[in-house]
Amino acid sequence: MASTTRDGLGRARDVLRRFTTPLLPDDYTQLINPLWSTRELRGKIEVVETAADDTIHLVISPGWGVPVDFEAGQYIGIGVQIDGRYTWRSYSLTNTPDTTAGHFSITVRAVERGRLSNHLVGTAKAGDTVRLAAPAGDFHLTNPIPEKLLFITAGSGITPVISMLRTMKDRNLQSDVRVVHSVRRREDLVFGDVLEGVDATVNYTSESGRVGPKEIKKMVPDFAERVVYACGPALMLDQVEEWAEAHDMEIRTERFTIDRASEAKGGTVTFGERGSIEVDGATTILEAGESIGIQMPFGCRMGICQTCVRQLDEGHVHDLRSGQTHEPGSRIRTCVCVAAGDVTIDV
Ligand code: FES
Repeated sequence: MASTTRDGLGRARDVLRRFTTPLLPDDYTQLINPLWSTRELRGKIEVVETAADDTIHLVISPGWGVPVDFEAGQYIGIGVQIDGRYTWRSYSLTNTPDTTAGHFSITVRAVERGRLSNHLVGTAKAGDTVRLAAPAGDFHLTNPIPEKLLFITAGSGITPVISMLRTMKDRNLQSDVRVVHSVRRREDLVFGDVLEGVDATVNYTSESGRVGPKEIKKMVPDFAERVVYACGPALMLDQVEEWAEAHDMEIRTERFTIDRASEAKGGTVTFGERGSIEVDGATTILEAGESIGIQMPFGCRMGICQTCVRQLDEGHVHDLRSGQTHEPGSRIRTCVCVAAGDVTIDV
C-alpha cells in the first residue's frame, strides 16, 4: 500500500510556502486540484451507496498528505462545512488496511440530532470535498489476534468490527469468532453479507428486546474464555464492561463520546494575560476558557480535527482521549485536555 512520510510532506509544504509567499500556497494549489492543501487534510467522496433508509456507504479518496495506513478497527475524522461552520465527527473505517488502494470506506447513519450524519445522508454526492483527520484509535485488532474473540455490537457499532472481520479473512488469521449484534429492525441491518460468513447472532430489538449479559451468556456458553470487543451505545458498553470485569475477561470498547473520568485533579487555568479560572478535573481547557469569555478556535470538540490546539506553557494536562499526560511546551488539544494541577495556556 502506498505510504507517505510526514517528514517528506512537511518539507514539500515548506518549499511551497517559500515559493508562494505572500499568497498562501493553497491559493495556487486549489486552482489545480481542490484536494491539495498545505494547511489541512482533505479527501474527495468517490462513491455514495445507499445501504438502508437512513444509511449510506461512502468511499473517500484521501488528498495530499493524508496518512493512509491504519489498523483494522480505527476511525477517521470527517469535517464538512454546514451553514458556514465545520462540523466534525469520527467514523470507523470499514475496509481493510490491505485492500484500501489508498481509499477510506465509512458508513454513515443519520441519527437523531446528528448534524453531520443527517447532512451527509441527505446531500453527500460523488465529487464533494471533505476535510479529514488521520486514522486513529486504540480499538483495533492485536497482533497476534486472540484465539477466541467475542464481538458485541449494536447499531453502527458494527462498523469497526466489519473492518476487523474483513481483515482477518483477507489475512487468513485464524481465531474462533462469535459476533452478537443488535439492530432495531430487520431493515436496519447493514453488512449482513459479512456477518453471514462468520458465527454471528443478529438480534432485532423491536422483536425480541435488548440483549444484555444474561442473554449473551446463553448464546455464548464459553464467553469467559474470549477476548471481548464491544462497540455501541454508552449504556450497553457500561453493562458489558461491568460484566466483563466481574468475570475477569479482557475487554476493549470503543466510545465516540469523551469519558471524563480521569485522575486529573483540576487546578487554576491561566490564559496568558487574559484571565484565569479554577476548574475541576472534568472540565476541558476549552470549556474553562469559554466559561470566562475566552473564545479559542474549535471544530469537532472531540479531539479529532486539531483546530483547538494550543501551547501548554506551564503545568501538566491530562488528555481524556489518549490518557497521556502532557508536559510544558507541548501542543495540546484543548477540547479533550483537563488540568492536572495549575496550568498556563498560550492564547
Ligand atoms: S476541536 Fe477538534 S480536536 Fe479539539
